[in-house]
Amino acid sequence: MFKPLVIKDLVAKVPLIQGGMGIGISLSRLAGTVAKEGGIGILSTAQIGYRRDDFEKNSLRSNWQAIKEEFDEAKRIAKGGIVGFNIMVAQFQYEKIVQRCVEIGADVIISGAGLPVNLPELVEGSKTKIAPIVSSAKGAKVLLKTWAKRYNRTADFVVIEGPKAGGHLGFKADDIQSAIENMDNEVKKIVEIVKEYAETFKEKVPVIFAGGVFTQEDIQHYLSLGCDGVQMATRFVATEECDAPDDFKERYINAKEEDVKIIKSPVGLPGRAIHNSFYERIQTQTPIPIEKCRNCLSYKHCDRKTIPYCISEFLLKAVNHDTENALLFAGANVYRVNEITTVKKLIDELFDR
Ligand SMILES: Cc1cc2nc3c(=O)[nH]c(=O)nc-3n(C[C@H](O)[C@H](O)[C@H](O)COP(=O)(O)O)c2cc1C
Repeated sequence: MFKPLVIKDLVAKVPLIQGGMGIGISLSRLAGTVAKEGGIGILSTAQIGYRRDDFEKNSLRSNWQAIKEEFDEAKRIAKGGIVGFNIMVAQFQYEKIVQRCVEIGADVIISGAGLPVNLPELVEGSKTKIAPIVSSAKGAKVLLKTWAKRYNRTADFVVIEGPKAGGHLGFKADDIQSAIENMDNEVKKIVEIVKEYAETFKEKVPVIFAGGVFTQEDIQHYLSLGCDGVQMATRFVATEECDAPDDFKERYINAKEEDVKIIKSPVGLPGRAIHNSFYERIQTQTPIPIEKCRNCLSYKHCDRKTIPYCISEFLLKAVNHDTENALLFAGANVYRVNEITTVKKLIDELFDR
């Protein structure tokens, strides 16, 4: 009933990408298992080495090593399945990180939190497939036009991230509600733009929708709008294989609709998170002085002196058993997650297998 997702020579049996989740939420176990079950598994490079012994001493070196370790382990679990990375444009040493992921053999790289204008030159000559994350027709057009002009190529696939996603959002806080109402129209426009560039380069460029996808009906809805697949993250947190600790997963299970909040991220974008003491704290008590800089964001995206709080510090608390005082990123539908399942059961349910 569902067609496989074809990205040039890569074929995922089900048209599903598991969204990258930093810090420490989508690592080798989750990404590897999703890939084994026929989807595309995505590791987040954000502080990917946080579980290593040397992380606090030298986080950059630790992350560098962990990129290969996590990828190799995910590939081992995946048994031939497709595994890639989510790398935020705002990440410290973005170019070097992309090149590292290419060098170790990433199948795909998905890049958002900014427009990845120079991504094509960083993967040139490799088999790694690339996708930008876009949230509007305008963003899609600017990016694809730039890639066409500058690199004479287009995207291998495109991820549209709507306003119901978890983590950082590509919308102004005041525009989120209207964006929710208008997103279907925007999706149709983006599908058309991608098609135009795909035709210019005589290629097939799949479009993937992310943000609030919860049921099989949701998947069918986005396919009916012209998409080729979906990216899902929030539902994968509540799986046995998700790399997050159990107390993080429990926050998802226990979240109610009124607990889903929009926060101001220091990156300058709004984000969606679960209500807790940290949420209350940042309403009144910023700036929170940085305890220790682990170089997560580029200097352009984080002025170490004026930043309202350190995003790494509070995302690390989320996976270090201090969920009450942490930034708990989650999608708009997190309150509908009521139990822990397995990746296989979830994918079987979504695709009627
Ligand atoms: C806990 C969490 C962490 C996330 N971290 C990242 C990230 O580091 N980079 C990124 O591009 N997207 C990130 N996202 C967004 C997801 O990859 C995904 O596109 C989005 O959440 C999809 O919506 P859904 O969660 O409703 O399925 C994160 C989402 C969650 C829930």
